[in-house]
Amino acid sequence: MPKKPLAFIETYGCQQNEADSETLMGLLLAEGYEKAPSPEDADLVLVNTCAVREHAELKALSNTGKFKKLKEQNPDLILAVCGCMAQQETRANEIRNRYPFVDLVFGTNLISRFPELLREVKRAKLRPRNRRVFCVEDYETNPGTFTEGLPVARESAFSAWVSIMYGCNNFCTYCIVPYVRGRERSRAFDAVVDEVRDLVDRGYKEITLLGQNVNAYGKTLAPKRSFAELLAALDTLDGDYILRFMTSHPKDMSRETIDVIANSKHIPHQIHLPLQSGSDEILKRMHRIYDASSYQALADAIRAAMPDCTLSTDIIIGFPGESEEDFRKTLQMISHVRYDNVFAFLYSPRGGTPAAGYPDQIPHKVMTERMERLLALCHTISLKKNASLVGKTLDSLVEGESKTDAQMLTARSKSGKLIHFPKTAQGVAAIGTFVPLTISAAHATTLIADAIDDGKDLSL
Ligand code: 5AD
Ligand code: SF4
Repeated sequence: MPKKPLAFIETYGCQQNEADSETLMGLLLAEGYEKAPSPEDADLVLVNTCAVREHAELKALSNTGKFKKLKEQNPDLILAVCGCMAQQETRANEIRNRYPFVDLVFGTNLISRFPELLREVKRAKLRPRNRRVFCVEDYETNPGTFTEGLPVARESAFSAWVSIMYGCNNFCTYCIVPYVRGRERSRAFDAVVDEVRDLVDRGYKEITLLGQNVNAYGKTLAPKRSFAELLAALDTLDGDYILRFMTSHPKDMSRETIDVIANSKHIPHQIHLPLQSGSDEILKRMHRIYDASSYQALADAIRAAMPDCTLSTDIIIGFPGESEEDFRKTLQMISHVRYDNVFAFLYSPRGGTPAAGYPDQIPHKVMTERMERLLALCHTISLKKNASLVGKTLDSLVEGESKTDAQMLTARSKSGKLIHFPKTAQGVAAIGTFVPLTISAAHATTLIADAIDDGKDLSL
């Protein structure tokens, strides 16, 4: 048997990109490839890029640059770039001009055509003068499509992503996503239910529904469906599993959805609800469609329906025109909602978005100073909240060895808390299952739990 060629995918950015990479790997396996343990071993390296902030773009570009060396060592190596950065014309041109060793660039709408493009690259490689393939479909003329039934090579045997919709129609003025992922389009209700049922039947324990704005799920379907209906239908599936979802846009979060989550069997009380800013003026300029008081009312309604609900959020610091007063309003909202987790980002101008052209850009130094203040506040709140969990027992999914300490295992509570606990044979045997963990200590971002030890001798 001839040796199968090896493929490596490097993924940047959000969970949607991770999900896309699992599909791209699925397609590669179907084409006769095997997974490579590292880029150095690979016959094909695919870089799946992110464009949401400049930092992510620069990281992907600099790593793509590093693959030049691999190409020099192995001229037959195929190097491909895809994802949100590749979808932007200026970045695609930059790769064309400055990265001549890249063989293939394709956009976010062409995942299903990856095998065909790859074959084109292989044919083109036989003709020395015309050996590169660039294929990006413009979302301005094409709102976007998706293909059902593509093979998926899942990274985990117990935790799975399920995209329920693609694209975004909101055009928040800072955000590149609607330009690089096209218009909002939902998968058919039954297709999602069938995929989740299949995963549950195959023993998956944690299923995360993905979309840029999951609360808008089903609006483009005929007949219209709602996210609440989808959650309710998925919650009726039999099995030992939990359902998570991200991301919720506050403007589309319905009362019905809150009630379904509150009364569900399989949906933990956990909601990621991006605030972005606590100032009405900034929210208006961001085109977020809600104001601070309606956001606060929504957060209060969630807490009233589910007092134990874990809430997290995204904040952009230093959006053009953000005054000290605007920033203080963000801090006030954080103090009111008392999030378990806050993901804060320095505003990063994205070419082609309205906010990048706003005149009142905030100096970097002001942004970093605000970031420090915000992180200090969030740290205090998270630490207090986590400290209140010491002594409690949380049902948690054991994920595997800790990335930072080989003596520890990592788990995630159903409520979304990251937990480290000492590695024992019982703990290792519990990877991929739910176990009760008793919290012994708290940090701001992680909890520490006692080892799992039921007295059985399972020597390591
Ligand atoms: N600059 C900084 N942060 C951004 N985000 C999106 N676009 C930008 C940008 N241009 C953040 C938002 C979003 C999260 C995924 O990334 O907070 O919710
Ligand atoms: Fe970007 Fe706003 Fe769409 Fe989220 S909802 S992807 S922030 S445009």
